Amino acid sequence: MILQQIIEKLYETPVDQIDRNETLQAVEELKIALNRGEVRAADCYSGWWCVNSWVKKGILLAFRIGELSEMSDDELFQFFDKDTMGVRQFSVNHGVRIVPGGSMVRDGCYLGEGVVMMPPSYINIGAYVDEGTMIDSHALVGSCAQIGKRVHLSAASQIGGVLEPIGSLPVIVEDEVFIGGNCGIYEGTIIKKNAVIASGVTLTRATPVYDLVKKTIHRSSATGPLTIPEGAVVVPGNRQLNDPFSREYQLAIYTPIIVKYRDEKTNASVVLEESLR
Ligand SMILES: CC(C)(COP(=O)(O)OP(=O)(O)OC[C@H]1O[C@@H](n2cnc3c(N)ncnc32)[C@H](O)[C@@H]1OP(=O)(O)O)[C@@H](O)C(=O)NCCC(=O)NCCS
Repeated sequence: MILQQIIEKLYETPVDQIDRNETLQAVEELKIALNRGEVRAADCYSGWWCVNSWVKKGILLAFRIGELSEMSDDELFQFFDKDTMGVRQFSVNHGVRIVPGGSMVRDGCYLGEGVVMMPPSYINIGAYVDEGTMIDSHALVGSCAQIGKRVHLSAASQIGGVLEPIGSLPVIVEDEVFIGGNCGIYEGTIIKKNAVIASGVTLTRATPVYDLVKKTIHRSSATGPLTIPEGAVVVPGNRQLNDPFSREYQLAIYTPIIVKYRDEKTNASVVLEESLR
């Protein structure tokens, strides 16, 4: 049986009937394949992203059968986690920079060559971070998030994790995207390539995004996530609420706005610090 079938079968097995050794082995094989980038939580086919639910099921199995254990490697700093949730090990040959100071990559994540992690930052299980991406201090790459090539995740930007519902896409950030400081990208939102998300923008499944250029509103649907178009420049804005109570108190609600599509000026604003890499 191939790994996918084994995981699908184990996932359907009630926890009190599950073969722990078989499950541990399947989970271990899955994490190795994730580390190598051979399997991913989502794949892109001709521009369309599809979730690989079986990968998420494998990760959920790891949580389900894991037992709490001590993971400390000295006496001063103690760590406790499920024994199925190790820490990803690297060698210098992987070509990634994990700058000292409190960053962590969970086992079961792919990091391409040239990825830089500034401290502290955290990459959760199932994430895929492609080559040349910069993850700045206090940034989070949540479980199963898929981050493209030469993406910049600025300080304190939060890329949410999506493990459940099992059929939901994770957050996807395509190649060359710039995510500004203090952004939050959650609930399976897709940021298409070259987009620029200004500092402080929060995007969830429920967030409508008003596009001043195309005169349209981008929203998630019952079947699809919120998708920010290629090259869009999204800034934080607000819109007037028009019910009598809101008018009386002049209430406005936060709403992100696409003010333009990326141009030379935007490129100059988000130019990466090549010398720091
Ligand atoms: C989005 C950003 C890159 C600017 O892009 P840009 O293409 O240079 O934008 P422009 O200056 O041409 O502005 C276009 C319009 O959007 C508005 N705008 C730009 N950035 C904005 C922001 N962050 N918030 C609100 N409005 C903004 C401008 O006022 C302008 O509107 P106007 O023409 O009515 O005056 C910049 O605002 C930004 O967020 N940079 C990231 C900073 C950051 O997080 N750094 C982290 C380093 S760790």
